Amino acid sequence: MKRVRVLTITDIHQRKWMYEALEQAVGLHKPDVLCLVGDFLCGGFERSGYLSESECAARLAALPCEVVFARGNHEMENWEPFARQWMRTGRTLNTPHGDATVIGPLVVVGFPCTYGNEEYFLMGKPDVEMDPAVWMPQILEQHGRAARTLWLLHEPPAYTKLCAEEGLMTGVDEWAEAIERYQPWLTISGHDHFSPIANKCWHDQIGRSLCINAGQPGDSMKELRKLHFCVIDLKFSGDEPSLPERVSVTAYPWNETLVLPDGKQLEPAP
Ligand SMILES: [Fe+2]
Ligand SMILES: [Fe+2]
Repeated sequence: MKRVRVLTITDIHQRKWMYEALEQAVGLHKPDVLCLVGDFLCGGFERSGYLSESECAARLAALPCEVVFARGNHEMENWEPFARQWMRTGRTLNTPHGDATVIGPLVVVGFPCTYGNEEYFLMGKPDVEMDPAVWMPQILEQHGRAARTLWLLHEPPAYTKLCAEEGLMTGVDEWAEAIERYQPWLTISGHDHFSPIANKCWHDQIGRSLCINAGQPGDSMKELRKLHFCVIDLKFSGDEPSLPERVSVTAYPWNETLVLPDGKQLEPAP
């Protein structure tokens, strides 16, 4: 039995307190893998309380776990100084984007983001169609059922409780269709920071897929200055890439745990 612990987080937007809180969370939960699901950068300004792109890269590279980056709409030309600093550390740059990153038995699929310029993040890789029906079959062919374990998609799937019903923060139809068709165990989104907090809901279901957006508080929400993130424990039968046998997801600061495949709600995590 092989266990992999993943910590997922979205929308920390170069905020110093969030990076510091993330370092603490990694120290406490000791994940094997950290997945940053978009908008870990912000771009366009320098303000107190915010780190520079190269500071963000240096701090993340110092963490004692594998790191996976999925693109959000805020990763644009600011990706260049970030990636430059990251490469200096000699660490592997995992940027699944219409493809997958494999870490031991875990296969992580990264989706593109429908907003903004992805050219910098691609670093010479070919463009990806926005419709996953174009590229998902190839991932499934390459990785088999294991590709249905964990999907990172910055924008939430449409028509879920994880995003606004209208406006800029609505979800993406194509993501919802892909989830419905391929039924991954878990999807992690962000982008709409506030709907999960306003709806008091960090997860939804599309068929048998558990779709998550743990949200992230804004600077004005002083009383909510707690980092939102998930800790996912996956148990695999061996070291080769496969679907997990069991997954538990705990969302913070929600302090709620869900277990797959049976979806049973457990007591708050200690
Ligand atoms: Fe964001
Ligand atoms: Fe976003």
